Amino acid sequence: MAITDHDTVVVLDFGAQYSQLIARRVRECGVYSQILPFTASADEIRKLAPKGIIFSGGPASVRAEGSPRPDAGVFALGIPILGICYGLQVMSEMLGGHVTSSGRKEYGLQNITISDHSSELLSGVSDSSQVWMSHGDAVDRIPEGFRVTAVTPTCPYAAVEDSRRKFYGVQFHPEVVHSVEGDRMIRSFVLDICGAEADWNMGSFVSDAVESIRKTVGSRRVLCGLSGGVDSSVAAVLIHKAIGDQLVCVFVNNGMLRKHEAESVLDLFGRHFSMNLQYADASDDFLSALKGVTEPEAKRKIIGKVFVDTFYREARKCGDISFLAQGTLYPDVIESRSPSGGPSSTIKSHHNVGGLPEDLKWELLEPLKELFKDEVRALGKELGLPDELVYRHPFPGPGLGVRCIGEVTKERLDTLRDVDAIFIDEIRKAGLYGKIWQALADLLPVKSVGVQGDERTYREVCTLRAVTSEDAMTADWFRMPYEVLQRAASRICNEVPGVNRVLYDITSKPPGTIEWE
Ligand code: XMP
Repeated sequence: MAITDHDTVVVLDFGAQYSQLIARRVRECGVYSQILPFTASADEIRKLAPKGIIFSGGPASVRAEGSPRPDAGVFALGIPILGICYGLQVMSEMLGGHVTSSGRKEYGLQNITISDHSSELLSGVSDSSQVWMSHGDAVDRIPEGFRVTAVTPTCPYAAVEDSRRKFYGVQFHPEVVHSVEGDRMIRSFVLDICGAEADWNMGSFVSDAVESIRKTVGSRRVLCGLSGGVDSSVAAVLIHKAIGDQLVCVFVNNGMLRKHEAESVLDLFGRHFSMNLQYADASDDFLSALKGVTEPEAKRKIIGKVFVDTFYREARKCGDISFLAQGTLYPDVIESRSPSGGPSSTIKSHHNVGGLPEDLKWELLEPLKELFKDEVRALGKELGLPDELVYRHPFPGPGLGVRCIGEVTKERLDTLRDVDAIFIDEIRKAGLYGKIWQALADLLPVKSVGVQGDERTYREVCTLRAVTSEDAMTADWFRMPYEVLQRAASRICNEVPGVNRVLYDITSKPPGTIEWE
């Protein structure tokens, strides 16, 4: 059954890395998109009454035995189909064309040349347009009824179509940003060829998700670990909107949070959103377990373990719980694809929820699983979360614990909290917060001599770091204006008693990581 009243485009997943990206591009056209495994029967698809179907790419070779194929009935549904890469190949093969395994892989940027300007799919695309190719096999004979609409020097069937049956195929990947006019092609397919109405937005996502959460949960209860970060906050508010007090949130204070963070989480979720919020101040447990420990991995393990113990202790106080809610996003989903299924997820590892104890048998509820980070932010805004939370920088689960280099003590954490608050405050005042992926301060296990007032001092050294990044996999150091650094350094030395020296980190990632640990 359709899970939305809006027009839908189905993405049939052949095991592609990019299925979610295709779905996202369709959403960007204002049209709902649902991913189904390629094993979905034609009947299942027909019941969803989609306006169009997109066959994703995939790592298999159509020439290989047992390669994934859609139900042949999909070609008889009278619904437009766009095949991307493997999707084009499998469509060609099944409709009477031929695919060859040249053994030569083509990977990277190419320019397509439009060879037939009457193409509906390529309408409005430049005569020569950059695309992203990634394939080994290639179509070497197109099915009857198809014509070629674009070529590359090495690919005679870069884009093909049968406009009578409304079947289209591209050998390249229009969904990735490197295909410069790919979004225009997807838009032409979804809006012009399929005629889908562009009336889906984050508001529609909320109403569909609320309905689906209510249906899944029924009268049972859901537990959500709230960290104060964007993902878990958005998930919690969405679920709360659906089931109100059937949601119990647990917020663990590990003593390594930023300044005023615990208060602001309690205020926002407990008071403003009136959520059923259980607060566990386990700072002492964390600090005593960390006493004397300096090795980064050992610190992480301890923090993870105390978190799990605390979380489960709190969970047991919450009565009968059936679901564990998580703010898992699409990029967090660990893909383990089997020939019959799409992506499957494991518990979001950085939530530190680890393996569940035997006596707690929860189902997972992950309402953000299909979304990308910026879509979650848009959803957060739609749900009325304040900008300050929606656009906040990433913050690691083990908190300031990984930023207190050396031993983690209450005094050092208090010092670091003050340094961090001043640095972020100066960045905000300079209007730079939104330009930075992440800004952080670390306290080093080093003391240095200084002179403050008339006195020689021997105090801690801190580093400030700000980076730009797309996805935290790589990062560049942010060219922070000198005046901002100067104001931050001067305030830190004046206002934070334990610190007399401030450094700015200009290491990119790689070779450095974002956190110092
Ligand atoms: P690194 O330091 O590896 O960090 O360059 C990449 C990104 O991951 C964040 N990070 C974490 N996030 N739990 C989290 O939720 C963690 O244990 C953790 N460790 C690192 C880091 O802040 C950066 O954004």
